[in-house]
Amino acid sequence: MKRVQFSRYGGPEEMSLAEYSLPALEPRRVRVRVKAAAINPLDWKIRRGVMKFVTGNRFPQGMGSDFAGIVDEVGTAVTDVRVGDEVFGTVEIKRQGAFAEVVDADARLVAPKPAALSFSEAACLPIPFATAWAAIVGAARAGSESRIFIHGCSGAVGSSAVQLAQACGAQVSGACGEASLASVELAGVRPAFTYPDKTSFAAYGPYDAVFDTLGTLDVAEGLAMLKSGGRFIDINPTPGRMLRGFISGRYRMVFATGGFRNLREIARLACEGKIHVSIGLEAPFTDALTVIRNAELGRRPAGRIVLIM
Ligand SMILES: NC(=O)c1ccc[n+]([C@@H]2O[C@H](COP(=O)([O-])OP(=O)(O)OC[C@H]3O[C@@H](n4cnc5c(N)ncnc54)[C@H](OP(=O)(O)O)[C@@H]3O)[C@@H](O)[C@H]2O)c1
Repeated sequence: MKRVQFSRYGGPEEMSLAEYSLPALEPRRVRVRVKAAAINPLDWKIRRGVMKFVTGNRFPQGMGSDFAGIVDEVGTAVTDVRVGDEVFGTVEIKRQGAFAEVVDADARLVAPKPAALSFSEAACLPIPFATAWAAIVGAARAGSESRIFIHGCSGAVGSSAVQLAQACGAQVSGACGEASLASVELAGVRPAFTYPDKTSFAAYGPYDAVFDTLGTLDVAEGLAMLKSGGRFIDINPTPGRMLRGFISGRYRMVFATGGFRNLREIARLACEGKIHVSIGLEAPFTDALTVIRNAELGRRPAGRIVLIM
């Protein structure tokens, strides 16, 4: 079996496509033959060692979180997943390894793949939509009266947040790069601003929630855009921002893990056509190293990138 792995933290040059074997399956895990795996920025952040306080210093480590595939084996304590099921899901930060022919995952982090979705589409759902769920449904408590501003509304998390907020009936405006303006307007972001247009998007407030998907909006400026009782939501932690999250009721740091229990609900919304993913590239697994490196360097098409096993 082959997987993308690395033997020390570092840049793209540390990745290799290598033979590996998995240990005996633990009781609460499932073994999945991967059909598609979606690339997220988290993948190279982990490889660079940004989360080494969680991922530790045992190597080699696999890469990749989000996958869809067919269940090959189930642990003895798993009751709701069967061999042969088509599933999609993710893995814990300290047990990466979805860029592989076979991956082991906690059974609670997989859900049935809806027949209406391709393996590639399903693989694109977990991290972006779980993060957006934690932000929009959880922290922002979006509803039909809500006005939500999404800073970075064109990326994987941003576009997921736009759709979830719309599905909640909220009015969504946002900011993105110049090149993304037309596509976010088409997605119903009204109005859509560019990042330098701060005065205009601040004046369009106040908002019930400001969701900064990129960690580039000044927090004080974001807080000033809120209605009384509104929330600034962040997903890019730094030590200072984490601390702020503990002491401020108006500022929330959220994580994908906060939305993972909603994978079935996310799949249902996708089946109902209320949310969708835009795939820019489906690449063969044999090209994984080049494709990941290019994505990391920003050389990529619009839309998600998926590896096909
Ligand atoms: N806390 C958590 O659990 C959590 C979970 C998920 C992600 N994150 C973090 O949140 C951040 C955003 O994640 P993401 O998955 O949304 O990232 P992403 O899809 O890479 O989007 C980020 C930005 O990249 C630009 N972009 C999108 N497609 C592009 C393309 N084809 N070419 C060039 N630029 C493109 C867009 O900028 P423009 O606005 O210029 O169009 C977009 O706003 C990352 O730092 C990630 O690590 C945190």
